[in-house]
Amino acid sequence: MLSGKRILLIIGGGIAAFKSQDLIRRLRERGAEVVPVLTKAAEEFVAPLSVSALAAQKVYRDLFDLTDEAEMGHIELSRAADLVVVAPATADLMAKMAGGLANDLASTLLLATDKRVLIAPAMNVRMWEHPATQRNLETLKSDGVLVTGPDEGDMACGEYGPGRMSEPLAIVAAIEAALADGPLKGKHVLVTSGPTHEPIDPVRYIANRSSGAQGTAIARALSALGADVTFVTGPADVAPPEGVKVVEVQTAQQMLAAVEKSLPADAAIFAAAVADWRMAEASGSKIKKDGGKAPTLKFAENPDILATVSQMKKGRPGLVVGFAAETDDVIAHATAKRERKGCDWIVANDVSPETGIMGGSENAVTVISDQGADAWPRLSKDQVAAKLAAKIAEALS
Ligand code: C5P
Repeated sequence: MLSGKRILLIIGGGIAAFKSQDLIRRLRERGAEVVPVLTKAAEEFVAPLSVSALAAQKVYRDLFDLTDEAEMGHIELSRAADLVVVAPATADLMAKMAGGLANDLASTLLLATDKRVLIAPAMNVRMWEHPATQRNLETLKSDGVLVTGPDEGDMACGEYGPGRMSEPLAIVAAIEAALADGPLKGKHVLVTSGPTHEPIDPVRYIANRSSGAQGTAIARALSALGADVTFVTGPADVAPPEGVKVVEVQTAQQMLAAVEKSLPADAAIFAAAVADWRMAEASGSKIKKDGGKAPTLKFAENPDILATVSQMKKGRPGLVVGFAAETDDVIAHATAKRERKGCDWIVANDVSPETGIMGGSENAVTVISDQGADAWPRLSKDQVAAKLAAKIAEALS
């Protein structure tokens, strides 16, 4: 059953688009809500009004439809779904997806989404067999896109072979499997992220430059694998992911309290850049200039959240993962940190200025566990997150 599930259905421009109308009917029979998006080419094959009537929903068509932006922006539209389905996925749409193009509403939604994507390809047999399409298919699969079909048979163009879109009921089955079978379904995973802010007085604080990007990407990737994620975040630059439980905190002490309150968890990932120090006593009123004399700030050490949870005697999560940002002797320092803190894995990275990693969109990490050090290639932070989420799923299985 799909009741309560929201499916963003992108209909591409191919003769198989007529079958997508039946797909909408089948999905709605099973209780799903279907939000349809038509590409320009799809409108040549199916009437927006029919699609809208079948879905009992507004049909989204144009990226620059300002009414849509006022109602629901394209980013939100792409994320307010449980699953994104592309049916039919034409050769052109697949190429756009593989290349990361975003020049219309459908491709923009596909690039912006943080949800899993299922495609049902449909095209002429030669187009399907073309090396370019097969290359794109491999790229999409390695990006984690789910694929159903195509079937083999007579085609509308008179040729015979693979290229027919899967039957609506087969697509429904793939959708049901995608929504039910995340490897982390039923697992509770806690993620800390972002910096902490430690007040000096009511208007000033100590902070660091963490954007929260890597922690957010990890939470999103875990959620996409079906995990029930609690995301404990300090004041980050990037917005928290959709569909996860968000707990916002300011200080390290609040973060520790929120983490303890969120346990038990099957796994806990500590990606936050927690301030090591806070004011021994934050001033209750704004500190004034005092005849040119600079104030002396007295510090107290913050609790080490990762070490506290790693060393819990009772209720320790089965898998505890910490991070180590180092500028030299990365492996040696991170290995020592793993021992000292008592966590299972340390995700170590070199944040020397010449790497451009700090504040950048890429990361090159080495995962240190009792199996030794596993160096990953330089990847985008989203790819690091996806790879780490897959490794966590494997460890928890
Ligand atoms: O000791 P260091 O700050 O290098 O350790 C980094 C790791 O420890 C990160 O996983 C970070 O989230 C965690 N940490 C913590 N609480 C602290 C300091 C660091 O959870 N007070």
